[in-house]
Amino acid sequence: MDIEAQIEELKASPNLPRHVAIIMDGNGRWARHRQQPRLAGHRAGREPVRMCVRTCARLGVEYLTLYTFSLENWKRPQGEVKGLMMFLEDVLKTEYLELDENGVRLAVIGRTEMLADSTREVIADTIRKLEHNNRLVLTLAISYGGRAEICDAARKLAGDIRDGSLLPEDVTEDRFRDYLYAPLTPDPDLLIRTSGEMRISNFLLWQIAYSEIHVTDVYWPDFNEEHLLNGIREYTTRDRRYGLAS
Ligand code: IPE
Ligand code: IPE
Ligand code: MG
Repeated sequence: MDIEAQIEELKASPNLPRHVAIIMDGNGRWARHRQQPRLAGHRAGREPVRMCVRTCARLGVEYLTLYTFSLENWKRPQGEVKGLMMFLEDVLKTEYLELDENGVRLAVIGRTEMLADSTREVIADTIRKLEHNNRLVLTLAISYGGRAEICDAARKLAGDIRDGSLLPEDVTEDRFRDYLYAPLTPDPDLLIRTSGEMRISNFLLWQIAYSEIHVTDVYWPDFNEEHLLNGIREYTTRDRRYGLAS
């Protein structure tokens, strides 16, 4: 079936995921196979990002969350980190028109206080320019760690308990969620990881408790619309039991 027909078919599915989260992995290996620098792999990852935004918007997926830079990634060589940050700024500055055309609102989760002022300014500026949109919420996890997010939430919550605005007995799962970076975003229904690694790498630990996982061997720069649609189609056939008897 051609891509257009696949999209039409999936759009009609009652089981479409509301929220797709992606661990975009394999840029470095993609580049190494071509004897290119790692940054060439990151740059080649731009097109699949554009495709995912476009296709998710077309399908009616409401939330797309992309693992863009982890807290652990700060420990990579300085050159790679600098290059990635410059690339990120460039992508945001040049893609915002297309994001706008796709009805995308932008959000960022992570310890953004660790980013350079220039990066933070570009992020804030792009968020502002896109805040009127409501077709697809694109969340970039930048300087993000799942344990750090839970720790940051616990710290804020402890402050509220100390101030007396929250009672220990009122700490429920729902109340705890209010302290996470994006409390209004529903949990991911589908988590995709490229490059074949069977791990979570500290992504959205709280939120993926019951997410369906799809791992593909394809390196991120090679991830195309066919691969995305395959992952989403497979998701629509899953039996989500949430611990109940089937
Ligand atoms: C993912 O690709 C992008 C980031 C983590 C920023 P990698 O850079 O991790 O690529 P591999 O895993 O080394 O191939
Ligand atoms: C996860 O990939 C982080 C991002 C995709 C941004 P990594 O390549 O950093 O994770 P590990 O090292 O394989 O666990
Ligand atoms: Mg990797």
